[in-house]
Amino acid sequence: MPSRRNFLNKAALVAGSSLLPTLKAFSMDDLLKIGNLGQNKSATALASDEDYWWQIQQAYTVSPQIINLNNGGVSPSPMVVQNAVERYNKLANEAPSYYMWRILDQGREPLRENLAKYGGVSPEEIAINQNATEALDTVIMGLPLQKGDEIIMNRYDYPNMLHAWRQRELREGLKINYVELDLPAEDNDLVVKKYVDLMTPRTKVVHITHIINWNGQILPAKRIAEEAHKRGIEVLVDGAHSFAHLDYKITDLDCDYFGTSLHKWLSAPIGSGMFWVKKEKISKIFPLIPNDKPNSDNIRKFENLGTRPFMIEQAIGQALNFQLAIGNARKEARLRFLKDYWAKEAKKLPKVKMNTSLKAEFSGALAHFGIEGLEAGKIESELFGKFKIHTSPIKWEKLDGVRVTPHVYTTLGDLDRLLEGVQYLTKL
Ligand SMILES: Cc1ncc(COP(=O)(O)O)c(C=O)c1O
Repeated sequence: MPSRRNFLNKAALVAGSSLLPTLKAFSMDDLLKIGNLGQNKSATALASDEDYWWQIQQAYTVSPQIINLNNGGVSPSPMVVQNAVERYNKLANEAPSYYMWRILDQGREPLRENLAKYGGVSPEEIAINQNATEALDTVIMGLPLQKGDEIIMNRYDYPNMLHAWRQRELREGLKINYVELDLPAEDNDLVVKKYVDLMTPRTKVVHITHIINWNGQILPAKRIAEEAHKRGIEVLVDGAHSFAHLDYKITDLDCDYFGTSLHKWLSAPIGSGMFWVKKEKISKIFPLIPNDKPNSDNIRKFENLGTRPFMIEQAIGQALNFQLAIGNARKEARLRFLKDYWAKEAKKLPKVKMNTSLKAEFSGALAHFGIEGLEAGKIESELFGKFKIHTSPIKWEKLDGVRVTPHVYTTLGDLDRLLEGVQYLTKL
């Protein structure tokens, strides 16, 4: 648990790196208060401390009329982040080309440094972009490969990435070999074996989704990556759902490439993402949108987007401050506590099929359940129609039901209401 002094140092580092007074984090006092609360409790003990989490809930502006349990799709930002976007937007509109390209743009390098520090990597390996799709597609489309080269992935990987690899298969004659996963999976030895069994001398890349979006399954990314590296195979990790959700550093995964969205678990503004490439691999990846030196080993070659919303990008800094104020370990423990709170009860109900393992090793905040005799769409529409609970209907491969995703602002009252809804559904 960070001490008060550590927290102050961290906060000062993030805020102090800003070059301009107008770019400083808004309401740092509030963040400091959050950072200081519950200092003497372990992350696990704090996970069920409603007084502490009440403070965090107050930072958000979510609707009291609907209960949003689809934070897996995209997450709201706390007020401090929304305010920053608005401030930067107003500033930019005073003279866009001056304030965006000469003033706000100066925040990019400090932000890169702070994101790198948070991810446990070098700033020279971090590109700031719009989402996980952009990051992962940069590798998928930009890695030089030849006809007959093989890729390993599974059918529960995210559709955008499946589509991108399949386009290369179609155009260039690559071959995708699919791992057949049975979800939920509680045997990591078996999962790793399924990946290893597909590795051949022609395999060039293993694509791993760290947390599968459909049911929240955590895959043993590091173990699969180690097996791939033993055989000279590169590893691309889709961290869209694990970054700022599980407590880890990018280097812990032992991968070569990593992409994530920041508008999911970091609660950064919508349309923000991050891309990490191991330094020695940067030069060989051709950017999606090239600059004048596509073979350069400068990570900034991946940021040649053209005119972009600088207000979105710069407010990532406030979201990062907010995350640091809570702390990764506390956040992971709370998210798992919230999932367990409803899922363990729901699992006991007749007709409920829990499609997510409730063992800590295999899931965090996300869980998927079905109800015998009811299709995904019906469960979702009943939950929304009768209880105003917003979830995500998911019918994918063998899954048929809804995904429920709480976030740090979710209250136990929201989850009690969900349980009422599930109980009602079992009686239909
Ligand atoms: C596992 C996974 N990867 C990638 C993405 C793509 O994220 P984005 O739409 O922010 O690019 C998602 C989005 O839900 C996801 O769940």
